[in-house]
Amino acid sequence: MDVLELAKRRGFFWQSSAIHGPISGFYDYGHVGTMLKRKWEAAWRRFFLGLGETFYEISPAVLMPEQVFRASGHLEHFVDPIVKCRKCGHAMRADHILESILKESFEGLPPKEMDALIRKHKITCELCHGQLEEVALVNMTFPVTAGTGKDARTAYLTPETAQGAYVNFKQMFEVLRKRLPMGLAVVGKAFRNEIAPRNALVRMREFTQAELQIFFDPETITAHPRFADVETARLRLLPAAHRHAVQETTAQDAVASLGLPPFYVYYLARIQEFFLQTLGLPPEKFRLKELAGEEKAFYNRFHWDIELQLGIGWKEVGGLHYRTDYDLSRHQQVSGQSMEVGEGRKFIPHILEISMGVDRNIYALLDLCAREEQDRAVLAFPRRLSPFDAAIFPLVRKDGLPEKAREVQAALEQAGFSTFYDSTGSIGRMYRRMDEIGGPACVTIDYDTLKHQDVTLRDRDSMQQVRVPIARLPDALRRFLDGGDLGTLGKPLH
Ligand code: GAP
Repeated sequence: MDVLELAKRRGFFWQSSAIHGPISGFYDYGHVGTMLKRKWEAAWRRFFLGLGETFYEISPAVLMPEQVFRASGHLEHFVDPIVKCRKCGHAMRADHILESILKESFEGLPPKEMDALIRKHKITCELCHGQLEEVALVNMTFPVTAGTGKDARTAYLTPETAQGAYVNFKQMFEVLRKRLPMGLAVVGKAFRNEIAPRNALVRMREFTQAELQIFFDPETITAHPRFADVETARLRLLPAAHRHAVQETTAQDAVASLGLPPFYVYYLARIQEFFLQTLGLPPEKFRLKELAGEEKAFYNRFHWDIELQLGIGWKEVGGLHYRTDYDLSRHQQVSGQSMEVGEGRKFIPHILEISMGVDRNIYALLDLCAREEQDRAVLAFPRRLSPFDAAIFPLVRKDGLPEKAREVQAALEQAGFSTFYDSTGSIGRMYRRMDEIGGPACVTIDYDTLKHQDVTLRDRDSMQQVRVPIARLPDALRRFLDGGDLGTLGKPLH
């Protein structure tokens, strides 16, 4: 199935400003995509903010002064290796072109060594086969001028939501009564001038991240008060030293055999729980991959990527980064403001970061949930994540059925469900359309509804139908969305 074609046709997402000739790497979400993204973000918030008593969401500005990115290191280190064609001028990521030809990762390799490989393997332009220039490092931040005249200041669109949490650390620490660990979550926009945006929402220039920064006392890394809750969880790990196959390792063994601190492993386990239990993704398509020395950012002491197996191969959709005191120390140094905490023993808190790309996860959901069946295409999203909880259809557009359908819709909305009303086709076509949007349940209002005050409830996956009294519909729908079997929720229709 062409998921991108379906995404456009059904209102999920498409290239931004297409009517004027789009710029690559920018996407707009339609109504269905917006609902799906909202549901994913709501699930993320519920799960990760629920992990700590002092974990809260904040909403920082996305445009911040130059000093922020001098402190963060983005102006110096946030570079990608690019190589240009001497003949046609096409620019490519040098590590990507090497990887596509030599089938291994070259992330983080110094430019000189990439040059040597390009010469050795006689690699040429992917478009015109022209000779390539030397590899150069290009900064990916987007500079902006804020203000005019003598007030003008250079600012940057933030390339990660994390910095918004770091610049607010001291203020929030005071407001939240100086307790550690403290979690500051940001679900917001990030901007990177990627050289080669590709695969739609996978590599964009403007995208949404959901990140949780956990500020903690480094002396507490050897324990987590709730470690016992996860110690027997079997984690799907791909350690740097064993890249050939996933090793299912209990959280307890991960601490013992991989030398990872319990505080870190606790969050690895919770991340896996989010993907497999909350999102309901298939375990075999999920793994946690350790990055080796040269692959991780220089400030990360531990770095495991969250990877999902998609049609385009295993893709990183997030990560767990132990950033030590790098960020707060740098902001202290550049701003001159102390980031130290503690009475008696003074220290700069360390940071554990749970980072995820929302759009990349939305792409992954579509990819993993798309199913082509004999006479229909289905997006079999987990029920609670689907863009709409239920679609409401009148069987025909006359005889009071639309009015009754609107009444049922209003009652469901009132009860807190997200609904979608459709009356623009035969019932079969409306079902197919909803299957392609991924709505888990359809509610049909027919002539019997007027007589008996009941409706047909249809399950997207099995296509089974049951008859449910309108008075019991909200309860039946709630149980269905929570995983209930349709057959137990009403009288089966054959
Ligand atoms: N604060 C840490 C950080 O930003 P990252 O690995 O650069 O780490 C985190 O980004 C996540 O953001 C990635 O796992 C990915 O899901 C998403 N992401 C990064 N660059 C992206 C891009 N160009 N387009 C879409 N998503 C991106």
